[in-house]
Amino acid sequence: MQELKIIGGKPLYGSVRISGAKNAALPALAATLLTDGVTTLSNMPDVRDIDSMCKLLQALGARIKRQEYSISVDTRMVNKWNAPHELVRKMRASVLVMGPLLARFGKAEVSLPGGCTIGNRPIDLHIAAMKKLGAEVSLVKGDTHLVSKRLSGTHIYFDRPTVTGTENVMMAAVKADGKTVLENAAREPEIVDLAEMLSKMGAQITGAGSDKIVIEGVQTLVPTSHKIIPDRIEAGTYAVAAAMTGGEVSLTDMKPEMISSLLSKLRAAGCTVSETDNSITVSGKPPFMPVDISTAEYPGFPTDLQAQFMAMMCLSNGESVVAENIFEDRFKHVPELNRLGADIVIKDRNAIVRGVNSLTGAIVTASDLRASASLVLAGLVAEDETRVLRIYHLDRGYDSMDKKLAELGADIKRTEGPNP
Ligand code: EPZ
Repeated sequence: MQELKIIGGKPLYGSVRISGAKNAALPALAATLLTDGVTTLSNMPDVRDIDSMCKLLQALGARIKRQEYSISVDTRMVNKWNAPHELVRKMRASVLVMGPLLARFGKAEVSLPGGCTIGNRPIDLHIAAMKKLGAEVSLVKGDTHLVSKRLSGTHIYFDRPTVTGTENVMMAAVKADGKTVLENAAREPEIVDLAEMLSKMGAQITGAGSDKIVIEGVQTLVPTSHKIIPDRIEAGTYAVAAAMTGGEVSLTDMKPEMISSLLSKLRAAGCTVSETDNSITVSGKPPFMPVDISTAEYPGFPTDLQAQFMAMMCLSNGESVVAENIFEDRFKHVPELNRLGADIVIKDRNAIVRGVNSLTGAIVTASDLRASASLVLAGLVAEDETRVLRIYHLDRGYDSMDKKLAELGADIKRTEGPNP
């Protein structure tokens, strides 16, 4: 099983190109099911979750061609409407095929995703919305079966904003009869990117990026080509890495406004952040000012950057409170950071981080995608050697992270650890 070996203490300098956003690429791949033909997606990240979604599309009958960072999906032979458990279990975002399959076939069979390490993550809001669009839903041996002769536009209010729920329902509604209004919709940039792709395919969507999205159903959608937006979470991860290591890094192909909440927290911590239209340059040096964060839906502080910012606050000269309001169990990185010498105590949905002078290398184990990133960041500053195990979690969502960090000056190597 692969692991990362890191010798800490090297400041990062240089520039890093931000890859396409995993969380925009996944719904874009699912959206290809809404049409018959060849859709080409560019600026796609080379990460394992994309491989998983491509496998799922192929299992449904699609043909996939990958060329460096672009993926073409030919959906003319798609003739299945079930997403099997063994694929959904591996990647919850597989539920994103539910809406497109329902719109394409009038039926969909999608295994109920099990929980994951950051929470039980139900899809009740997705299902409730599909029912409002006219689908009949039943649970058959752990699979949700949805059937609908014709989806009809309706008014849907989400009890709480859900990113993939908003995306799933948008994709179901674009070919429904009449108008659909989504209230309390998620506002993430990935929603806007999906709406732009769907509009290029012929959909009629207004309001994406706000909490009210209006969709006028159309008869057919046509294939298109679409460039995926940059990954704001990858960008935020490298911004924190630059500050923690006492270096200076420019993030290219990245729009600052996509991570403005993080940038303001970096400035509050004492970092220097400069921006152009398409790049961000971050520098900093521990010890940092202690800064509290409270995760929230976009444009609030992203839950996907909580673990990374917590790693940075381990090197503050005071006490900071990290409140995780989106997922009920997203502190799995805390005991691992404490193994490196951090001083963090969990109290309900809050982690109290007391700054320490330094961290010391140790063996730590990744538990989920963003927790893995926080352990790598901590390893970059910990004295001596840190070994991060189970980095298959990291490879799900970061494109060549070890290579990109090494190019910035980190002493980091991917090795084949001892077999489990
Ligand atoms: C998306 O997950 C992202 N994944 C997650 O990124 C991200 O952490 C999350 O949004 C929040 O920003 C993708 O886009 C593929 P939600 P999603 O539905 O859509 C609850 C990463 O690291 N909820 O917005 O699954 C849910 O349990 C991943 O890249 C329900 O209760 O998140 C959570 O507490 C991790 N019922 C909250 O809402 C539902 O039907 C927000 O979840 C749906 C969600």
